[in-house]
Amino acid sequence: SSSSKMSKKKIYVTRADVPSPGLELLQERCDVTIWKETYPVPRSELLTQIQGVDALFCLLTDKIDKEVLDKAGDRLKVIGTMSVGYDHIDVNAVKSRGIRLGYTPEVLTDAVSELTIALLLATSRRLFEAHQQILELWSAWSPVWMCGAGLNHSTVGVVGFGRIGQEVAKRLKSFNVAKIIYTGRSDKPEAKSLGAIRVSLDDLLSQSDFVIVTCALTPETKEMFNDATFAKMKPNAIFVNTSRGGESAALQRALENGTIQAAGLDVMTPEPLPPDHPLLKLKNCVILPHIGSATMWARTEMAVMTARNILAALNNEVMPAEVK
Ligand code: DGY
Repeated sequence: SSSSKMSKKKIYVTRADVPSPGLELLQERCDVTIWKETYPVPRSELLTQIQGVDALFCLLTDKIDKEVLDKAGDRLKVIGTMSVGYDHIDVNAVKSRGIRLGYTPEVLTDAVSELTIALLLATSRRLFEAHQQILELWSAWSPVWMCGAGLNHSTVGVVGFGRIGQEVAKRLKSFNVAKIIYTGRSDKPEAKSLGAIRVSLDDLLSQSDFVIVTCALTPETKEMFNDATFAKMKPNAIFVNTSRGGESAALQRALENGTIQAAGLDVMTPEPLPPDHPLLKLKNCVILPHIGSATMWARTEMAVMTARNILAALNNEVMPAEVK
């Protein structure tokens, strides 16, 4: 009836190609408006569409700040981001308005750890460079041609030993690494069974052959990798980042000057990286376009979890994953 229709909650979804199991959960119960394109919703459109909604389903490409929240008005009860990271959201502003915030931990952990290992191997074994060589000039098998660093006998340092860092460590063990060390705010009980040892950031930088960044972007970790930190790393160090982008200019200098050997990045600043960016010209830098969680399974689970977070909050229930 029209009265039940009128009482339906209004939800705005910021992307057309959100996996349908997530969208369907919302559409069964709510009045859902979806940005019609597969590229990010323009800011002006978001500011218009958010007015008067009860819930927002957003992505990490949408900046959710005070202006957006002010436009939304009093009805906005919950924001669900289809991501584990929420540095694109002004959490204090959200919380101070009594709005609940959902995110998607766990379901993408395997996908991101897998991609981290892929990037580690692509960088250390120079896969993209080697592929370019076969297209251009492969003269013959040669004793030291295209040699890289193996993971065996290496020391691997993990910055941020959370869900993803621990899964990376688990996978690394099968490569016969010599030592796994980690750094972070707290001691992780899980480290023991993984044989990982907690050290200071400085010790991690000076000892690691591979430095893997899997920490959240927060005011404390922002621009943690700069000229000073790269200078503390070994000249043979390979730097891998699959969490959030850091300072590109410092990394570029470190790669160009031989301060470190190579880098593998799934995240960078800015995103998207312009095709003529200097980092893309460096042979010792492997760059992927933020595809860490890009398995259909993970992305579908992320969409479903985001929908469930939103529905739970609209019903005043416990959310599957709420940012507290
Ligand atoms: C996230 O979820 O925060 C990743 O960056 C994309 O899956």
